[in-house]
Amino acid sequence: MHTTIPVSIQHDPVRLVLLDQTKLPEEELFLYLDSRDSIYEAIKKLRVRGAPAIGIAAAYGMYVCLARQAYPSLEAMAHDFTALKQYFASSRPTAVNLFWALERMQKRFDAELRKQEISRSLMLKALLDESNAIFAEDQAMSIAIGEHGLKLFDKSKHWGVMTHCNAGGLATSGYGTALAPLYLGHERGYRFSVYSNETRPLLQGSRLTAYELAKGGLDVTILCDNMASLVMKEGKINAVIVGADRIAANGDAANKIGTSGVAILANHYGIPFYVAAPSSTFDLATKQGDDIEIEQRDAEEVVNGFGKRTGPKDVRVYNPAFDVTDASLITAIITEKGIIEHPTTEKVAKHLLG
Ligand code: MRU
Repeated sequence: MHTTIPVSIQHDPVRLVLLDQTKLPEEELFLYLDSRDSIYEAIKKLRVRGAPAIGIAAAYGMYVCLARQAYPSLEAMAHDFTALKQYFASSRPTAVNLFWALERMQKRFDAELRKQEISRSLMLKALLDESNAIFAEDQAMSIAIGEHGLKLFDKSKHWGVMTHCNAGGLATSGYGTALAPLYLGHERGYRFSVYSNETRPLLQGSRLTAYELAKGGLDVTILCDNMASLVMKEGKINAVIVGADRIAANGDAANKIGTSGVAILANHYGIPFYVAAPSSTFDLATKQGDDIEIEQRDAEEVVNGFGKRTGPKDVRVYNPAFDVTDASLITAIITEKGIIEHPTTEKVAKHLLG
């Protein structure tokens, strides 16, 4: 059995094709984007979201925008490459996969420029190849994380698994990160009841995670964020698994706001807390979680979300999009390379660098 996963990003030689995640679950609307402003806006407004998906979209976005211009020279193209890269990099600050993918495109651009036989069309072909490679590697990464993650679950038992935000197919080009072990396990007869925290203020847990798990045939229950403690106390949760937007060198992991509270609760109730993320989500240049820049978003998302005013107009609102879970609260980090139990700086470096 192969699970039906929503396709959030597609590659088209001339346009970036995105499933508009702001319209889910009501409408499956595809966007066909070919301008720098529309691609920037799609990332900024979370039409495409989730750390790996943002990186893939930015990589294709670079290619699509550069392919549309008739540059008089490769120097002119290089100049615009830098401007475009800076523009996309300014869309969202926390998910490191965005910067990772843009750097990878830059490296490929520079390597091609050094070749003797290089032309504008050869350069574009190389950039398309690189975007396709990022996409394909992400799909393989999802499966590898799924395989490693599944080792943490026992087939003979029925598992209650809590997740927060969306780290599934919509957030990647494949089976996701946190949801990948659940999809693979479901295909192989493992039994999971997934509890998806709704994830205020933008409701990625109820709008996206519940949507894609239900579509894939998995058993899913939506919880308001403030129900997590009760449901854990009731004994319904045997494991928590979430994604990450940036993991510092010491294993501290930034993920959607509310994640650290879930980790503290899981530790209180003695429930294992897992983070699933590819190597591209690690930022070894950032020593610890306190150094990760946390995106601050518009107040309207909190007090006027989804067309309903739920707070007075002139009251101050605090809207950080992410928080950092201390490495000491993480039972294990699952990557495409394997599992880092009780992460520390030494274990993270050994896992990633060998
Ligand atoms: O603001 P979002 O929706 O982009 O936040 C996404 C998350 O926090 C995800 O959990 C994270 O990016 C992991 S995606 C595999």
